[in-house]
Amino acid sequence: MKLKIALLAGDGIGPEVIAQAVKVSDAIAKKFNHEITWTPALTGACAIDAVGEPYPDETHEICMAADAVLFGAIGHPRFDNDPKATVRPEQGLLKMRKKLGLFANIRPTFTFPSLIDNSPLKRERIEGTDLIILRELTGGIYFGARGRLDDGNTAFDTCTYTRTEVQRLAKLGFEMAMARDKRLCCVDKANVLETSRLWRETVQDMEKDFPEVKVSYEFVDAVAMRLVQWPNTYDVLITENLFGDILTDEASVISGSMGLMPSASIGVHTSLFEPIHGSYPQAAGKDIANPLATVLSAAMMFEDAFGLKEEAALIRAVVNKSLDEGIVTEDLAGKNKAYKTSEVGDWLAKNV
Ligand code: IPM
Ligand code: MG
Repeated sequence: MKLKIALLAGDGIGPEVIAQAVKVSDAIAKKFNHEITWTPALTGACAIDAVGEPYPDETHEICMAADAVLFGAIGHPRFDNDPKATVRPEQGLLKMRKKLGLFANIRPTFTFPSLIDNSPLKRERIEGTDLIILRELTGGIYFGARGRLDDGNTAFDTCTYTRTEVQRLAKLGFEMAMARDKRLCCVDKANVLETSRLWRETVQDMEKDFPEVKVSYEFVDAVAMRLVQWPNTYDVLITENLFGDILTDEASVISGSMGLMPSASIGVHTSLFEPIHGSYPQAAGKDIANPLATVLSAAMMFEDAFGLKEEAALIRAVVNKSLDEGIVTEDLAGKNKAYKTSEVGDWLAKNV
């Protein structure tokens, strides 16, 4: 099969972790007789430096022409500490999500048997956790009207959702639940917010189309609590953009390291695959970042964008093997030897 992939390494540790995912993907392609064409493109702070714009038109065209986008991370501290900066790397990410129509962000959370004791949560709380948070990604407060009132001392951000936006996300959630344990949790704040009431009403209306799915409705504050108390009681959770942003960071600690969890964003145009962690600028260039989240994102890409299940399964198996054998970066090594980012990538590619 011919696979055309846009490669957006981005900032910070992005290029280092992406390089490992490329090694592993190339090894997979060789083994299964696929032909991958990687087309690199600029995004984030490095794109601002090069062309003054975090998601240049040229990058968008490359993404549109590709079958999938593999993405590293974006962000740079020099923008975080400057609230007056008018161009920011994150704007590139939001523009990319909007222009590619990536309305659904799929963030799985699961545990690795050999890492269970790396989690800050107790073993009995997290064993068996296998959940997916499906986050709406192109609406809500991230994209609503915002601004300052004249005196500059009052600011506002507005959250807007249409029924259609909720329906298309919820439909994916129901379908995902059908393919899994048939349980769906709609996370909202319907006791306070009108948008949440629209979410709840819309999902309730859709229940009849998926009679086998058991739907629960929970407030986001309660979910924030239950997610660390009993994560293994959830299957698929659907939620709006900001709640999803917060809950997926929270969920990422369950597995023991933020450097482990992959994600996929799907929607109207080309799907995008990225680790859920950020650009980790303190580690950039040091060859110490954990590449597994990006490698596992490549596995999601093989499976979701190309339907190549066996390839994806092999990547996951090799990742598990590396964890079992302790071929891990410093975030997971504990007192044992820590391998470099590039060494982990080489090992995985060789074992493919
Ligand atoms: C994420 C990130 C982004 C978000 C930032 C970098 C804009 O936190 O992908 O979760 O808030 O969506
Ligand atoms: Mg986030």
